Amino acid sequence: MARETAYTCSECGLQSAQWHGKCPGCEAWNTLIEERVAGVGSARASARRSAGRGAGPGGSGARSRRPTLAARPLREVGATPLERMATGIGELDRVLGGGLVPGSLVLLGGSPGIGKSTLTNMALGHLAESGRRTLYVSGEESAEQVRLRAERLGPGALRVPILAETDLDTVLDAIAAEAPAACVIDSVQTLHSGELSGAPGSVGQVREVAGQIMQLAKSRGTAVILVGHVTKEGALAGPRVLEHLVDCVLQFEGERERPYRELRALKNRFGSTNEAGLFEMRQGGLVEVLDASARFVAEATRAPGSVVLAAMEGSRPLLVEVQALVAPSELEQPRRVVSGLDRNRLALVLAILGRHGRIGTGGSDVFVNVVGGVRVDEPGCDLAVALAVASASRGVPLLRTPRACFGELGLTGELRWVGHPERRLAEAAKHGCGEVIAPVDSGGGACEAATLADALALALPAGSRALAEAAA
Ligand code: TYD
Ligand code: MG
Repeated sequence: MARETAYTCSECGLQSAQWHGKCPGCEAWNTLIEERVAGVGSARASARRSAGRGAGPGGSGARSRRPTLAARPLREVGATPLERMATGIGELDRVLGGGLVPGSLVLLGGSPGIGKSTLTNMALGHLAESGRRTLYVSGEESAEQVRLRAERLGPGALRVPILAETDLDTVLDAIAAEAPAACVIDSVQTLHSGELSGAPGSVGQVREVAGQIMQLAKSRGTAVILVGHVTKEGALAGPRVLEHLVDCVLQFEGERERPYRELRALKNRFGSTNEAGLFEMRQGGLVEVLDASARFVAEATRAPGSVVLAAMEGSRPLLVEVQALVAPSELEQPRRVVSGLDRNRLALVLAILGRHGRIGTGGSDVFVNVVGGVRVDEPGCDLAVALAVASASRGVPLLRTPRACFGELGLTGELRWVGHPERRLAEAAKHGCGEVIAPVDSGGGACEAATLADALALALPAGSRALAEAAA
């Protein structure tokens, strides 16, 4: 079938045979994306489709020639249970919803050096060891470089067939010939279709590459993991558009300088998006961290500015240390630096702390860090941030350290209930953090506080409270 190239505006959908820097339709800049369009054959098909659709109530001519498809109640639709392939990496399988689904497309994003190649190489290694056919396509590294890594990852990783290639057609031929049960494309931004003139990694190329691989993978039941890079802002570079196409989007996060890595599902057609897996990068590759709470509590400093947050990572409770430092600022606009938390959340907590806790930080730089490079994305972290900042600001450790807490702060200074209090409390008790400060109705064993002021009264020594009130 004859094919030609066209350009579509990602903003207004305008189609053009030529590329323009500025869309002639909506006048947005740089929004025209190169695409392959089907030639004559499919033009006819689409003409047929529109003729059928345009027939209207009276025009039954086209409609009568087509077989009628009856809609059925959902209960009558046969559903076979999903088959899953265990990758042998428990945390990865859990985040995927129980393993890789044959024929599915998974997009794994993460910044460079975070461990995407290591994780995918290990997963294929385990699958190869269990007798499945696998294929690792590397467009980024040479076969020798991939082998050097695989040597560190054990014998299974060395059994995986490698193809170091960037040409899409060659890769598609290899997938067809090898017929793998699981295949990794590392990375989707390096592959290139000769039929488009755009550079590898451009939106048009990335979409074309993913689309063609998806077609082949679905028809053959191959599970494909597409590795993608993430920009500084945290978005998947180029393949944002892929997020709609793929079945599952996984994000690998962490700080390169620190050993902990977190794997999260942002989208999952075959499982929950609540799950997160924790890994540690070691000499022999990524190791699952199963006792993270114990480690973080043991490492908690118990100094002024330190508090333990009883957080939820998906369906699992996790105890993490939140640290704060408050120091007089020499800047007109004092610094607000966060790591592992949302910056806006910190601004909100500082405002509530100033207004309802009488702890002002207006003239100070405030630094807040979730220790270990872990990211906490839930409202239950508010109280921990407030207590850490309060303790740092007063220069006194919290009472009964390591002190654990959780709860969301409302704008009127109330402490709000958050999900799964019983699991958080049980985890804290298991790791020696009794007397958890928690919102009202959290259940047995908690030191309940209705407001931020109540929580501060429970957590700070009486002398420092008086000091805070005098200063306010
Ligand atoms: P890599 O998987 O190449 O990252 P990505 O594909 O996301 O760019 O791994 C990156 C880092 O991990 C690299 O700096 C070296 C380190 N590493 C280890 O510490 N131990 C190991 O066993 C391996 C394979 C890598
Ligand atoms: Mg890599």
